[in-house]
Amino acid sequence: MRISLEAWMLAVAVLLSGCAPKLEEVNSQVPVVKDIHSYANPAEARVRHIELDLQVDFEKRTLAGTVVHLIEGKGKVIFDTKDLKIEKAEASKNGKEFQPTTFKLGAADKILGAPLEVVLPEGARYLRISYETSPTAYALQWLTPQQTAGKKAPYLYTQGEPINTRSWIPLQDSPGIRITYRARIRTQPNFFAVMSANNDQRTSAPTGDYLFDMAQPVPPYLLALAVGELQFRMIGARTGVYTEKVMLDAAAHEFSDLDSMVTAAEQLFGSYRWDRYDVLVLPPSFPIGGMENPRLTFATPTIIAGDKSLVSLISHELAHSWSGNLVTNATWSDFWLNEGFTVYVERRIQEVLYSKQRSEMEFAIEVAELKQEMATLPEKDQLLYVDLAGRDPEDGVTLVPYVKGALMLRAIEEEVGRERFDPFVRGYFDQFAFQSITTGMFEAYLKGKLPELKLDVKEWIYKPGLPKSCPVISSFLLANVDVEIAKWKKGQPIQTKDWVAQQWLHFLRGLPAELTADQMAKLDREFQFTKSKNSETLDAWLILAIRHKYAPAQVALEEFLSRVGRQKFIKPLYQEMAKTGEGKARAKALFAKNKANYHPIASSAIEALLAK
Ligand code: BES
Ligand code: ZN
Repeated sequence: MRISLEAWMLAVAVLLSGCAPKLEEVNSQVPVVKDIHSYANPAEARVRHIELDLQVDFEKRTLAGTVVHLIEGKGKVIFDTKDLKIEKAEASKNGKEFQPTTFKLGAADKILGAPLEVVLPEGARYLRISYETSPTAYALQWLTPQQTAGKKAPYLYTQGEPINTRSWIPLQDSPGIRITYRARIRTQPNFFAVMSANNDQRTSAPTGDYLFDMAQPVPPYLLALAVGELQFRMIGARTGVYTEKVMLDAAAHEFSDLDSMVTAAEQLFGSYRWDRYDVLVLPPSFPIGGMENPRLTFATPTIIAGDKSLVSLISHELAHSWSGNLVTNATWSDFWLNEGFTVYVERRIQEVLYSKQRSEMEFAIEVAELKQEMATLPEKDQLLYVDLAGRDPEDGVTLVPYVKGALMLRAIEEEVGRERFDPFVRGYFDQFAFQSITTGMFEAYLKGKLPELKLDVKEWIYKPGLPKSCPVISSFLLANVDVEIAKWKKGQPIQTKDWVAQQWLHFLRGLPAELTADQMAKLDREFQFTKSKNSETLDAWLILAIRHKYAPAQVALEEFLSRVGRQKFIKPLYQEMAKTGEGKARAKALFAKNKANYHPIASSAIEALLAK
């Protein structure tokens, strides 16, 4: 069944009169901060709401159709685009009758894409742009049926953060510009489409024609779409999981704590404001671990370990419902406001849901990873507030905003106590709800609410390295592992009963730099690492296998690299191979073979790494 135009118009009318916010009221007082990663001109003309109407073409690998922008302001509107084919631009006073208007697509910058200038005639409030995406659009991954779990239908999904949304929608692509949106997505019957919006059609038969509505203003990087042969399974009253049929049982089992997670987070930091919280488990080529698309977290299947050992990633993405999605970084230099707060909140959720010792263990692992990465970073990238002039915002995505950010918040917590800090954090989310803020605004708020604070916040934010005030995160579960490593080095038997994934990870990373072929073989015989079903453990083991030329793991390595596209795993593997001349040739050959299975984000990152 096709949804008629009338039904669509009716739905639109109902939405306009009903739950949609009054657009004029949405944080119109808050000025937009200058964003060096967007061509948009919000000070003159600013988009408040968009309506998408797109046809998904799996054969051509394109999205084609229109976007209507509701604009506040006058003169000309500048949009961001990347590799888009712009067919025409039209303007309207009432959103019904449109007249052609002039537009100009500027020269393309490698990082930012090209500005699209459209003239907004006197009195007009709406601009409609007809366009088509490129088959190699940066935000989109098109999978063939063979690349999916079910092998029968193709699959498409988007990844918008930080500045990729402009490669599938011409819009004002700055995190400081929040918009509400509605979308009509047309695809084939039996293909299920989901978005970072309401997904009310989840119970009805898939018609291939979908309407979506997101009535809460969100930054453009949170617009997300996935289309495939998806199924849905309810977990709790307001939570559930979408994935391909063959993954459904495992996913529902792994995420059975979803409802409790939402409740735990609410009790800590205030009500969940996004209605439902569902998780979409993507095919293994998904380039990142998770993406906090509102109402619908996108997640890698590599966290499905069978024992819930890697679900902190879901706590992390859920935490973004407060830090990031509710209170958003105004520019990519303020990224630590999104991620540092989120890692802090993630730790608190894990503590309530599982235990303090598990949360501290996970934190200790992250801190060790931060220290290791920090040692390789230039000083300018060790600050929480990063100067990204002339750079890709992806360059700022290191563990510094994540873990150093969380450590600073932990330092404040330790100084003032949770009785003071928890209400502070809750108040921060309330104060800046549905706004995009800068580091300076955070500093001013902190000073106002906790004036007695002795911690040198400026040092944390604007100086490299970790300050002396850095909290020590200790974990006796990891300390136990250290004891066993010491025994192992002396050739004594070790006690590994009941170890969890993080302990195995710590063990593998703590082994001596030099390992003989015999030692590798013995480790594998004893602990079956090559056969590990835990992606984190396997990844850490494969790094050792490459480093020590452990041949029996080669098949597993090749299988892993051909199936998994998660950059956190595959980048270090290619990098480790590329350390020797012979290894580099092999890395290049493997990459050439696997490239088609990776998302454009991942393949361009690995290409750059192997070109060095
Ligand atoms: N928002 C990020 C993902 C992201 C960051 C995408 C920057 C593009 C640019 C997400 O919340 C995230 O941090 N994911 C992590 C997992 C997390 C547990 C640290 C990831 O994907 O590894
Ligand atoms: Zn995050």
